[in-house]
Amino acid sequence: MGDDLKKGLFSARLFNNRAIHDLELRRIFAKSWVFIGHETEIPNRGDFVTRNIGEDPFIMVRDDKGRIQVLLNACRHRGAQVCRVQAGNSKAFVCPFHGWSYRNSGDLLGVPVRTQGYAALDFKEWGLFSAPHVESYMGLVFANLDPDAVSFEAYMGDYKWYFDIQFALSEGGMEVLGEPHRWIVDANWKQGAENFCGDSSHTQMTHKSVLETGIIDPVSAGAPKEGTGLHIHDCSGHAISIRQLPGEAPFISYPPEVTQHFKPGRLNQDQFDLAERSLLQNGTLFPNFSFLHIGLSDSPQKPHAGFLTLRVWQPKGPNQMEIWNWILAPVEASPEYKRRAYQVGMSSFSPSGSFEQDDVAVWPSVARTAATIFAEINNMRFNYQMGLGDMSSSEPIRDWVGPGVANSTNAGEGGLRTFHHTWYERMTNSKLELDHHDH
Ligand code: FES
Ligand code: FE
Repeated sequence: MGDDLKKGLFSARLFNNRAIHDLELRRIFAKSWVFIGHETEIPNRGDFVTRNIGEDPFIMVRDDKGRIQVLLNACRHRGAQVCRVQAGNSKAFVCPFHGWSYRNSGDLLGVPVRTQGYAALDFKEWGLFSAPHVESYMGLVFANLDPDAVSFEAYMGDYKWYFDIQFALSEGGMEVLGEPHRWIVDANWKQGAENFCGDSSHTQMTHKSVLETGIIDPVSAGAPKEGTGLHIHDCSGHAISIRQLPGEAPFISYPPEVTQHFKPGRLNQDQFDLAERSLLQNGTLFPNFSFLHIGLSDSPQKPHAGFLTLRVWQPKGPNQMEIWNWILAPVEASPEYKRRAYQVGMSSFSPSGSFEQDDVAVWPSVARTAATIFAEINNMRFNYQMGLGDMSSSEPIRDWVGPGVANSTNAGEGGLRTFHHTWYERMTNSKLELDHHDH
């Protein structure tokens, strides 16, 4: 498989195979930093939401001491789920089976008939299991189930440079608007994750009808021009794609009432300049956390509004995923602006969104193909060779100001290859030595 990967050829089986999927849950999801939620979703003590890591159910809760806990949603007595709702506020979780109860810190609080039947039970030993590593980064809560995990910052590595641009444009940072939306798609989780690494070339085809409506500004809607596209790959195993403005129009996605709050702050000047000339940015932090920073409108007659959407591509078996979607806006924006950003985000990237509906019409067919017998007989491999080696007319940008390998073109699938290379390395626990400079 390694040789195929170096050539940009990935087996169709990856997109619908039970054995591969089960291995992914162990080798990738149980060993990576996985996004759980945003701190602004649980502002008060006792607030909780239920989430997943891989296919394991967890509760993210702010305990009575104000600490964020990520607890396995499973009673230590005999495994029943202790929390049955998606969000709420509670001092304790009481198991519906035999009534064991737990504090919102996860500690065991009480068991029925304790004195008659459990006189010697050591309560300290029987709290809910909790994720060994939980970190909050600019309000984003990530957890890692691997006791030996490196820190979240070390996991991001150089990708932090791009990651910070999305969340630190204004001093107050970004705020989640409303509740996350989620919907089921009959496709493998990797379909969404790789798409957000920089599958620029699908836009002109899959989303052709949306582009024609005029709800996206003319610069974005036009065919990619040399110099406006920017693909960054091989960045500590993660990737990002950026559409840049050809002219002078800073932060075109956002109106002045919002951009007046944008300051370099914790960004350096190069990061801030890149943000300023970016029309849209989308990326994936391996394995299943993606973002899209964009300005859109819900009508050609109405002005554009910028927003940030966060994604989790939640696996549900080899041929199904649940897509989670959060919409965010800068904290300093007015309530009217936030309402507008939410509306625009919902009308484009949500279950009923204009862009979203296009993607989910195509992705399931890839999973169906991956499961066909004839694809297996023919050892069908999918082609991810765009921009690879001799295929490419563009060289990586020399003296690129940021980390990773940057190409000033949209005509490449380098970001998608980065995703699959990282996937291979995590699945096989071996380093993939690329023969030539992959771009
Ligand atoms: Fe929870 Fe028995 S399984 S109390
Ligand atoms: Fe799309």
